[in-house]
Amino acid sequence: MLEIRHLCKAFPAGGLTPKIALQDVNLTVPTGSFVTIIGSNGAGKSTLLNAVAGVFPVDRGCVMLNGKDITFLPEHRRAAFIGRVFQNPLQGTAASMTVEENLVMAWRRGERRGLRRGITAGLRRQIRDRLSQLGLGLEDRLHTAVGFLSGGQRQALTLLMATMTRPDLLLLDEHVAALDPNTAQQILYLTEKMVAEEGLTTLMVTHNMEHALRMGDTTIMMHEGEIVLNVKGTKRAAMTVHDLLNQFKRIRGEQLLDDRMLLAD
Ligand SMILES: Nc1ncnc2c1ncn2[C@@H]1O[C@H](COP(=O)(O)OP(=O)(O)O)[C@@H](O)[C@H]1O
Ligand SMILES: [Mg+2]
Repeated sequence: MLEIRHLCKAFPAGGLTPKIALQDVNLTVPTGSFVTIIGSNGAGKSTLLNAVAGVFPVDRGCVMLNGKDITFLPEHRRAAFIGRVFQNPLQGTAASMTVEENLVMAWRRGERRGLRRGITAGLRRQIRDRLSQLGLGLEDRLHTAVGFLSGGQRQALTLLMATMTRPDLLLLDEHVAALDPNTAQQILYLTEKMVAEEGLTTLMVTHNMEHALRMGDTTIMMHEGEIVLNVKGTKRAAMTVHDLLNQFKRIRGEQLLDDRMLLAD
C-alpha cells in the first residue's frame, strides 16, 4: 500500500513567492490498485510522481510504501522497488547499449555491485521469453543498440524493464503521449497486461480522459497542487468523459458543457 500524507512541495519561481506545486496532498493506494491521474498542465501530476520516486526532497509530509517510511530514502535506493516510465521514449533506456544489456541492467537494478554476475543462460532465456510476449519481434533484436529502435519499441522495452522485477510500485507519467495513436494503443494494451499479470500497484498520469476512466480502478484529478477529485467503484464506472470534463470545468469555475451536471449529485 502507498500512503501519501500531507505532502507539500514548492519550487523557487524567480520572484519572492515560490510556486506551490503540491499542497497538502493525501492519497492512499491499496496494494494492487491502479490509479489514473488527470489534470491540466502544471497541476502537479509529475511533481507528485517525482516526489514519490524521490527525485527531490519534499518540504513537508511523508510517503510510506508497504508500511515503510521512504520519505528520506534517496532516489537510487527507491529505484530498487519503484519502476518508472516517462513520456520521452529516450529517457528510460540507454541508447548505446543493446536490448539485452538494457534488460540485464534493469534486472540487476537494486543488486549491490559486488553481487553482479554475468548473463546466465537462464536469464537470457527469460529475457527472450519476456520480449517475445511483447509481440514486437524484439526477441530477435537482442544485440541491437536501443538507439536504432522506434519510439514505440523503446517504450515497450522501458515498460518491460520497469515491470520485470515486479516493483512494489509502478509510476507512468504520460508514457504514451509522445507516440502515434496506434502505437499508443499498443503500449496501453501492454501496460494493462503487465499490470494485471503482476498485480502491480500503479499510478498512471494521462491527459486522455477516456483512458483515465477506462483503465485502472480509481481516477484522481489534480488542480493547482491539490487532489480535487477521487473516484472509484460504481461512481467511476457510471462516469463518462463528458461528466469528467464538467467536473474539470466546475473546479476551474468555468461554464459547464450543459445543464445536466447542475442537477447531478
Ligand atoms: N523542477 C522544477 N523547478 C521549478 N518549478 C517546477 C519544477 N517542476 C515543476 N515545477 C512547477 O510546478 C508546477 C507543477 O508542475 P508539474 O508537476 O510538472 O505539472 P503537471 O505534470 O501536472 O503538468 C508547475 O507550475 C511547474 O512549472
Ligand atoms: Mg507532467
